[in-house]
Amino acid sequence: MTKAEQLLNLLDYEKAAEMRLEPAAKDYFRSGAMDEHTLVDNIAAFQRIKFLPRVLNNVSHINSHTSFSDHDLSVPLIISPTAFLGMAHKDGELAVARAANSVNSIMICSTMSNQPIEEITAASNATVWFQLYVYKDKDATLALIDRAKQAGCQALVITVDAPYLGQREQDVRNQFQLPAHLKMSNLHALEHSKLPNKVGHSGLAHYFESLIDKSLTWRDIKWLKQQANMPIYLKGILHPKDALLAIEYGVDGIIVSNHGGRQLDGSIASIDALASISKAVNKQVPIIMDGGIRRGSDILKALALGAQCVGIGRPVIWGLSHAGQRGIENVFKILETELKLAMALAGCADISSISNELIA
Ligand code: FNR
Ligand code: LAC
Repeated sequence: MTKAEQLLNLLDYEKAAEMRLEPAAKDYFRSGAMDEHTLVDNIAAFQRIKFLPRVLNNVSHINSHTSFSDHDLSVPLIISPTAFLGMAHKDGELAVARAANSVNSIMICSTMSNQPIEEITAASNATVWFQLYVYKDKDATLALIDRAKQAGCQALVITVDAPYLGQREQDVRNQFQLPAHLKMSNLHALEHSKLPNKVGHSGLAHYFESLIDKSLTWRDIKWLKQQANMPIYLKGILHPKDALLAIEYGVDGIIVSNHGGRQLDGSIASIDALASISKAVNKQVPIIMDGGIRRGSDILKALALGAQCVGIGRPVIWGLSHAGQRGIENVFKILETELKLAMALAGCADISSISNELIA
């Protein structure tokens, strides 16, 4: 088996993780929707963006610390929510929380975590935010918010790009469902905590179809914010007009994201959506961007284009699959080292000196 020291970059982690995962889990974690054009473009778009580096700026000390929404992050990098991490490693979400703590980051825990939110927040001193899917069953939604709050989550991240699940065709072929020993531990009702079996397509797509609220509107966001009484982020914003509506309806931050290319195929790459959203938002609320971050230089590009911080989804799963908590810590370490090198070579000694002048 490959030694961690030989895993130089995130691509190495992807390969190493894929060797360990069960085929259906590997497909679920990897997939994008339909033809996967957006999945591919999330990465290709970063390659199209070029730097205009500056020189002679004294880069003998590079500081990647940033203050983000009352947190002092060592690197402007947080953990995007991903479901069913028990399929990646026996420690699942607990390992993610512990890694988030040791690298001084923020974990956004999915509604669909395998381990219960109380155990996840208790596993370490990490800052944990809760990602919310809004159920048709209002009581179930309110119970989720209440649990997250009681467990000590410090913000609610409402995912707004998934009224239905995008069609991930390999999941359809596999008739994807959770392994028998895993469930969704944040949901009380049996039909909410298990995926349906033998539905002839993806059990998760069927679950979304039958249980997730498709009637959600901006007014509900206001209501959810009142119920939660904690900071609210909307995840899955791509249009500048929606970013402005989000501010109008009182959200505390937005996450520019196309769900890792898993929802509407043909959507713009997240990084390509960032500049116009940043311009429209004009620093009224913080912006997080996720989708396709694979190198430290990608983080630098996202910061230059107006994000205050970025999120990673699959790279965390790769680290977790390969070596649990330590694997995730290594993924963070690699990105931190790469970011600092990219900053130095671009003439930026600290995060505040990064601006869109860095982009050609
Ligand atoms: C996700 N994502 C996601 N988003 C969300 O709001 N709730 C969720 O439960 C999940 N689950 C999930 C599972 C898996 C396997 C993946 C790959 C993604 C989307 C996730 O938060 C994030 O937007 C993307 O993963 C970012 O893209 P990268 O970093 O994977 O390229
Ligand atoms: C996914 C859901 C759970 O992308 O957000 O699989």
